[in-house]
Amino acid sequence: MASSILLLFLIICFCCCYGHASSAFVEVVCDETSIGQVGHQSMLTCKVETTQETNGLTILVVVWKKKGDDQFLSALDKRAGKENKLQPGYKVALNNRTVSLVITDTKVKDEGDYTCQVVTDSGNAIKSTNFKVTAKYHPPTANISYEKGIPKSLFCKATGGYPAGELRWFDENQTEWTKSAEPRVNKMEDGLSELSSKLLLMPGSTFSEYTCAVYNASGNRVDSVAVKLPFTGPEPPKQLSAIIAPVLVVGSLIVGLLLVLLICRKRSQQKNRRPSTAPLMGTHDMVPHSNQEIDPPPPYFEEVKDSMA
Ligand SMILES: *[C@@H]1O[C@H](CO)[C@@H](O)[C@H](O)[C@H]1NC(C)=O
Repeated sequence: MASSILLLFLIICFCCCYGHASSAFVEVVCDETSIGQVGHQSMLTCKVETTQETNGLTILVVVWKKKGDDQFLSALDKRAGKENKLQPGYKVALNNRTVSLVITDTKVKDEGDYTCQVVTDSGNAIKSTNFKVTAKYHPPTANISYEKGIPKSLFCKATGGYPAGELRWFDENQTEWTKSAEPRVNKMEDGLSELSSKLLLMPGSTFSEYTCAVYNASGNRVDSVAVKLPFTGPEPPKQLSAIIAPVLVVGSLIVGLLLVLLICRKRSQQKNRRPSTAPLMGTHDMVPHSNQEIDPPPPYFEEVKDSMA
């Protein structure tokens, strides 16, 4: 009885020790997520670690695979007589206990989950890691579209960004008009996004400048372009001048005519008034000439009186 218990104990102990040695002794530790930039070199890096101190650990094989892509396999094989298996544009680097996958020219399609598998003389291990890709938008461009000479809408475009961001509109007072715009996101062949947005202008809109701003996927404003509108009042300039010119001419004619009339009238008034008004004080002095009581009658008056008598 005692011997059978001892045997069971030994079996359990052996199993534990064996299991430990084969799977848990070697570990691959990776960043959960790494980020690369489109058009640049990227690196996915993991470390091979041991759970116990060990003098020598020889990494024999490193295999990088991409989940959901059976074609993707990059392997570094140090075993004698074995060959590396590498894809153009991808390298596997081994430096001490650091193993990495180098992507020489990062593309949107490189985004995804990868597994890193190592074979060592002390056991094997595997770990997965996520790779994300970003790309900066090119500077945006904007233009005005006219209808019968009047600005009808603004159009803004930004290409080359990833993940897709957003275009937003502001007037010169920094009031946002994005809700009045029609946004569109196109996915280009290389997986990058093309943002465009059309802002319809309200009739009689009084703003002289609008700004189209590019926001990246994290909501950061990364670039902008300003659009200056040509001056337009409530009427387009051509019609305005066509109305103003005759009004000015007729108006000045009327004013001139009125002035001439006024001057003529003043002059004639002055002429009529001069005899009576100039010696206004002497009016009384002149009265005696017609006052018969004071003035003696002319001499012939006496003669007529006499002959009548
Ligand atoms: C957005 O821009 C900010 C600031 O430039 C940057 O830190 C961030 O990584 C960008 N995000 C993306 C998804 O490109």
